[in-house]
Amino acid sequence: MVNTKLLPLVALISGRGSNLQAIIDQSQSGQLPVEIRAVISNRLQAQGLARAHHAGIKTHVLNQQYTHREIFDKTLMNLIDSYTPKLVVLAGFMRILTPRFVHHYKGRLLNIHPSLLPNFPGLDTHQRAIQAGVKEHGATVHFVTDKVDQGPIILQARVPVYPDDTPDILAARVLKEEHRIYPEAIRAFAEKKIIFKDE
Ligand code: GAR
Repeated sequence: MVNTKLLPLVALISGRGSNLQAIIDQSQSGQLPVEIRAVISNRLQAQGLARAHHAGIKTHVLNQQYTHREIFDKTLMNLIDSYTPKLVVLAGFMRILTPRFVHHYKGRLLNIHPSLLPNFPGLDTHQRAIQAGVKEHGATVHFVTDKVDQGPIILQARVPVYPDDTPDILAARVLKEEHRIYPEAIRAFAEKKIIFKDE
């Protein structure tokens, strides 16, 4: 039976899927009022696909045969919309999305980024944080807009950076916090405690 109190969502992944796992775990334990209707990966090898299978969630792979960005995103949109989600979460989805895609999901598209935005948008955030000598680093959950890594911030988690940190050690410290704040932000969205406002 469909539980109408659960927020239907679709998750997009590209790799390991540990954030997806955190969302699955909290959903299964009843802490997160969501129904994960599908997990879509742009990479066949993504470990997160196995996590979804294990949880009994439908999966799809849309790989690079759709080389043209507009065509890829249109195909992705059609697939996502076939599940009629109220929320789409990017959980380590490593593709830049077209403005058309982003507008289509305006106000219901979330991302987690491994830095304290607006610091360190883009890739290699942990290495860059160490190189910059910052004392604090972290992760950010934000609404996605067509300005990459610049959408309105929902939640951030801070961690210390120690002098002997390597990017891997720092990444692990941040990831632990990601697994805490992503479900928390999704819960706030599901409970309508946050809404997206156009700037
Ligand atoms: C996470 O650290 C996430 O913040 C990052 O990719 C990792 C995915 O890990 N996302 C980005 O860098 C987005 N630009 P996961 O697959 O184990 O969740």
